[in-house]
Amino acid sequence: RAAKALVGVRDELKLSLAAVTVLNDRYLLRDEQGRATESTGELMDRVAVHVAATEDTHRAGSSAQWAERFSALLRGLEFLPNSPTLMNAGTRIGFLSGCVVLPLDDSLRSIFTTLGHAAEIHQAGGGTGYAFSHLRPAGDFVAGTGGMSSGPMSFLRLFDTASDVVSMAGRRRGANMAVLDVSHPDVYEFATAKAGARDELSHFNLSVGVTDAFLRAVERGATHRLVNPRTHKTVARVSAADLFGAICEAAHACGDPGLLFLDAINRANPLPHRGRIEATNPCGEVPLLPHESCNLGSINLARMCAHGTVDWDRLTAVTTEAVRFLDDVIDVNVYPFGELADASHASRKVGLGMMGLAELLAALGIPYDSDEAVRLAGRIAAHIQRAAHAASAELAVERGPFPAFADSRFAASQPIRNAQLTSVAPTGTISLIAGTTAGIEPMFAIAYTRSVLGRHLLEVNPCFDRLARDQGFYTDSLATEIAQKGGVRAYPGVPAAVRAAFPTALEIAPEWHLRIQAAVQRHVDAAVSKTVNLPATATVDDVRAIYLAAWKAKVKGVTVYRYGSREGQVLTFAADR
Ligand code: CDP
Repeated sequence: RAAKALVGVRDELKLSLAAVTVLNDRYLLRDEQGRATESTGELMDRVAVHVAATEDTHRAGSSAQWAERFSALLRGLEFLPNSPTLMNAGTRIGFLSGCVVLPLDDSLRSIFTTLGHAAEIHQAGGGTGYAFSHLRPAGDFVAGTGGMSSGPMSFLRLFDTASDVVSMAGRRRGANMAVLDVSHPDVYEFATAKAGARDELSHFNLSVGVTDAFLRAVERGATHRLVNPRTHKTVARVSAADLFGAICEAAHACGDPGLLFLDAINRANPLPHRGRIEATNPCGEVPLLPHESCNLGSINLARMCAHGTVDWDRLTAVTTEAVRFLDDVIDVNVYPFGELADASHASRKVGLGMMGLAELLAALGIPYDSDEAVRLAGRIAAHIQRAAHAASAELAVERGPFPAFADSRFAASQPIRNAQLTSVAPTGTISLIAGTTAGIEPMFAIAYTRSVLGRHLLEVNPCFDRLARDQGFYTDSLATEIAQKGGVRAYPGVPAAVRAAFPTALEIAPEWHLRIQAAVQRHVDAAVSKTVNLPATATVDDVRAIYLAAWKAKVKGVTVYRYGSREGQVLTFAADR
């Protein structure tokens, strides 16, 4: 019966088997016996109705009409909000944001208050980011007790353990980002924390917050000062290049730490009078001030394609409705504590992004690693940004600008409803639901086996599958064979033009990963979640080169991942097992 129910759900929205499995296991509402009480279409309606309810407060009686429009958008898989919105809209939890940044001041009260707040956010499926930079270093003086401080690393481990406990009861692992400023005396311990032990800090992504001054010192071979954040005294002078080398070595070994380019982030800070931004959400796509939250949502570019080209008008229309949807989410959101509500209402930041870029490029026959792809990716991001800002300005006419507008760097320009409009999220799960490629990432593989909650499913990229059948070269044994290695670039059984248009993440040179990220970042308000994939044979010097190139390309952060460098990698190819 369960299998039959799955088939029913699948047909309704033409979902993949993997999508249905995930929805069924984690997203659909259930009764006390654990049986799903809604179909996927009903899930989309629940979300649309709940979010549109706030439209009545702006114009009485308009919510039904908006619910219908939002529902069409979601059912058509043209736009999906982040997972917490899909899971929690219209339920008892009611927290809909993807992510939050929380403050950590140098006091036990601040640390433990934030620890409690983080637990509530994780329980609701949200992610949390924090800067540990203000905590006094290990071994520093504690006046109240006359003892010695245990330092940011011990608190970081405490947060990781807490996440572990909370996630066991949840439907999704609450992810965390810890940022430490490159001038903090404990930066070496922080940078190398995950490179040594395998299970260390498994709920955390780590990023070192670097400044332009530090990176210039790396290039010049100059020294770099480590400063105690409590006393503001310099406690050591180290070689900037050595410290950078340690960071790159750790990233080479395990993917952590990434870098956050704090100066680039703050040059784009819409509210500089409210403070310097020091942290981002877990996957890096949203730099936020403490207590701000961000509602993410992504446009499915694979569905913005018509007659062999991008459907620019549809892209404008979907962007306009998506901005309205995300602005409505801010109002219907149930914030677990007051500070979150206040900060989120003041700036009304949202993060509209995209998924399916790689599928769109493949459908248009454009190799991801080509100048044409870089140009098109930038054009799409610019188009979404322009349309999103126009939509937000229109909402401001109707509903007023965000309350902190007069305090923002937009104060002299046209009123706008949201201090931040666009961002590119990883779309890890929603891209799976939509059946397309994640964010702006290339395809991981053309065919592969994915383990979804203990089951192994053979998946063939739907775009490739369709094309291969149309052109008459598809066979089951071809798919199984491709799944051994993942890619088709070097596969003689596939026509040359198809091979060029379907590169996989590992077949694409790291420079192209970065070029796409930079082209998109130029037209994105917040940041872009992107991993630069490296082959297993990449060296520490390759990591160093990419990290410096990323800084020069003016992106806001960078993450690398060397194939096979983390145990329990979710996707592997049979030939490498
Ligand atoms: O696709 P989905 O909406 O589920 O999420 P995503 O785009 O992969 O991730 C967006 C954000 O959700 C991340 O940056 C994290 O802040 C948060 N997240 C989390 O807390 N825990 C996860 N397991 C995945 C994402």
